[in-house]
Amino acid sequence: MSKSIKTFLISAEKDHLNKSANPAIVRASTVYFKSIQEMQKLQKKIGKGIKTNYFDYGRQGSQTSIALQNILKELEQSYHVFLTQTGFAAVALAIMSVCRPGDEIVISDCVYRPTQKLTSQLLKEFNVKAIWYDPNSFDDLKKKVTKKTKLIYVENPGSNSFEFQDLGKIVSFAKRRKIYTAIDNTWGTAYFFKPIKLGFDLSITSATKYYSGHSDVMAGTLAVSKKVYKKVWWYNHLSGYRLSADDAYLVIRGLRTLSLRLEKHQENTLKIIKWMTKQKKITKILYPYKTSSKEYKLWKKYYSGASGLLSIIIKSKSKSSVYKFVNSLKLFGIGYSWGGYSSLAVYNHPVEMGKRHFFNLEKNCHLIRIHIGLEDPNDLINDLKKSLKYIK
Ligand SMILES: Cc1ncc(COP(=O)(O)O)c(C=O)c1O
Repeated sequence: MSKSIKTFLISAEKDHLNKSANPAIVRASTVYFKSIQEMQKLQKKIGKGIKTNYFDYGRQGSQTSIALQNILKELEQSYHVFLTQTGFAAVALAIMSVCRPGDEIVISDCVYRPTQKLTSQLLKEFNVKAIWYDPNSFDDLKKKVTKKTKLIYVENPGSNSFEFQDLGKIVSFAKRRKIYTAIDNTWGTAYFFKPIKLGFDLSITSATKYYSGHSDVMAGTLAVSKKVYKKVWWYNHLSGYRLSADDAYLVIRGLRTLSLRLEKHQENTLKIIKWMTKQKKITKILYPYKTSSKEYKLWKKYYSGASGLLSIIIKSKSKSSVYKFVNSLKLFGIGYSWGGYSSLAVYNHPVEMGKRHFFNLEKNCHLIRIHIGLEDPNDLINDLKKSLKYIK
């Protein structure tokens, strides 16, 4: 029977053996075998990167992580999903699995700052060159590709700045040139957009965010195509990336309500944006909401929905008054790691943004990244309204 993904997320991976609604948390380093022969047979399979239903050692996972992988594989519609201890580890796993000395990686300028650092600083040590392209220009991306390009790395939308790219064009171009493609899909998640289905080879999601959804776990997922599976498996096997059974369980629990939460984040966000558009002190809203905008059209082309993360730009000569606006918010926590149930706000320092090659804030403009949580949106609007008055 074919089920919608909403039903699948609720009904998948019950523990029939223990007659339990949820899979067991299997914490294991040692895995027992009936005989040496059985052990060696499994080891042979694992050593060849053949997928198995259980492992010979806990570093590869347990029944709990396999349960999570089974759910994610369906959600992502991918060949396989690797699990990591953080979202950033999934970024590293994707890049380190495919890039080798002498290679070049063409990377969009708008990626998450630690990804920018990894590619520009760590990869340099391994003689892999990072070349930045303007996320607003497909022509610029094409220009940056050379015979040495091994990987095109995209983050969509851009971190803090919310540029949307024509993902289908990027994938087709890369395929013609036999270049691997990776995307950080944390904002949209595979619930709203399935990169592997579109043709990406590697799709990263920080499960710390919406997949787990409760701000109490750190985890990463790397969905892959069949083409790169063995490469990633090999690197993963030799580098010891792993997600604990307890954290895998928490991500499974989060996934049960992913559809409800994401739909509500979206509904609340659109309601709040409607109000924000009428506020003179908010100069710009970075989110795909304006139907006439390029961002909206590109978002609509590939996504079935939008999550709760956006940025606003405020123009003011008084930086301290913008700080006061953020500090005065009662329902928005000042902190990182969006994608949980609650609302957050952070001021993004222009110097940090300045590290980027194709994005800059105009003079006296301030960028605040906001995550809209699951609170009553009217309460969030009232909170924003009260604090906005501090901006001079
Ligand atoms: C777009 C994006 N990718 C990856 C990460 C890294 O995820 P984690 O914090 O789970 O390491 C983050 C974290 O904020 C992020 O925003």
